[in-house]
Amino acid sequence: MFISTYGCQMNENDSERMMTLLEMMNFRPVTSPDQASLIIINSCSIREKPVHKVWSEVGRYREMKAKNPHLKIGVTGCVAQQEKEKLKLDIPLIDFVVGTDAIDQLPEVVAKAREGLNLVRARFEHQQPYHIETMVRNPGVSTFVNITKGCDNFCTFCVVPFTRGRERSRPLKHLIEDINKLTQRGVKEVTLLGQNVNSYMSECGINFAQLLKKLAVDTDVERIRYTTSHPKDFNDELIDIMATYSNKIMEYIHLPVQSGNSEVLQRMNRGYTREEYVLKAKQIFEKMPNAVLSTDIIVGFPGETEAQFQDTMTLLDEVPYENIFAFNYSPRPMTKAMRFTDQVPDEVKSDRLSRLLAKHREIAFKLAEKYQGRTLKVLVERYDSSPGQLMGRSTQNKSVYFKGNETWIGHTVDVKIATAYPLVFHGEMVQ
Ligand code: 5AD
Ligand code: SF4
Repeated sequence: MFISTYGCQMNENDSERMMTLLEMMNFRPVTSPDQASLIIINSCSIREKPVHKVWSEVGRYREMKAKNPHLKIGVTGCVAQQEKEKLKLDIPLIDFVVGTDAIDQLPEVVAKAREGLNLVRARFEHQQPYHIETMVRNPGVSTFVNITKGCDNFCTFCVVPFTRGRERSRPLKHLIEDINKLTQRGVKEVTLLGQNVNSYMSECGINFAQLLKKLAVDTDVERIRYTTSHPKDFNDELIDIMATYSNKIMEYIHLPVQSGNSEVLQRMNRGYTREEYVLKAKQIFEKMPNAVLSTDIIVGFPGETEAQFQDTMTLLDEVPYENIFAFNYSPRPMTKAMRFTDQVPDEVKSDRLSRLLAKHREIAFKLAEKYQGRTLKVLVERYDSSPGQLMGRSTQNKSVYFKGNETWIGHTVDVKIATAYPLVFHGEMVQ
């Protein structure tokens, strides 16, 4: 089997789950599609021409399929969910389609495909709570754990509520059991995953902040991370719990702002103003002076004027983001903003994007300077024998490279930083 994965960490995690399910059916992973008898395209539809990407990847397999009629090609992920039967009708080379809520049906769908029956499974399951024990072949030191699924926020630009369905949370007890099993397998760090983790709500009324506290206190996991947050749900209780349990809950917060202008934020249906967001960031730094913030930004949202874009530029002066993910607005099917009539021309979007990234680049290099000479706690994840180097992540989520041997994998060590670029640090282990 060969799985190509597009998009976010949710998709990466889903691909890992599919690999595990397929290994149970005796499929073995291969490194290139021409060695595979099963190819899965785990698609993403968050931005730009997603169906086209699936189309062109399937096109590359046309000859392989002509030579080997046993080769099966399936599409999963957000494009599968969005297009359903239509995808198979439009691209006849596709043998099966499995939506985002139907991953656990993959073994059955693949078995049927091998018998010549081509299925489309793309119904949403609406049960609350939802059940999904983590499935990962070699969890290593750090792994993802789903806590919520779907999203009810309906930001006007975003297709996710339509491709991942309504928001559901996993039962607290299951989460604790799941994480305990992972730590018994050697996992030291978990990243809690959800479209909007902050609105987690267990069946017994435990909210996200309380969940973090429970995991910090009641499990042996050494480090807890999470993604993604929504500023409107990022509350004081969460900041307090993060600050109190900062030995376990990593002070790296991805807090997507999307725009620095309150009118644009309103048209995006984000539920906060620029001022409220900036205040929240200030409160975070007051309680957690070492916190690191990153964000997502969309430029050229329908109707965005140059002056409104300038508000996003100046936001970078007010909130010290160490990393930003910035995108041109891209109209998505089914979303409200797609129907807004004041779309911004592509050249204007691209020009804004490059100005924003250039400004942030300078800021990021300046912010990185403060790490030079500092000693950071690094959880060692990997050893690369050719340069004889270890790679681990600091509490701030920076990749840190330093000399050592593989016996350090899984240990948290002190590393003195010699060179600090915005995302990558080099240093030396301090014994
Ligand atoms: N156009 C551009 N960027 C988008 N994102 C989500 N939808 C769109 C869209 N239609 C970005 C947002 C989100 C990130 C995952 O992708 O910034 O936070
Ligand atoms: Fe999309 Fe908004 Fe939900 Fe995030 S919170 S997944 S941007 S609808």
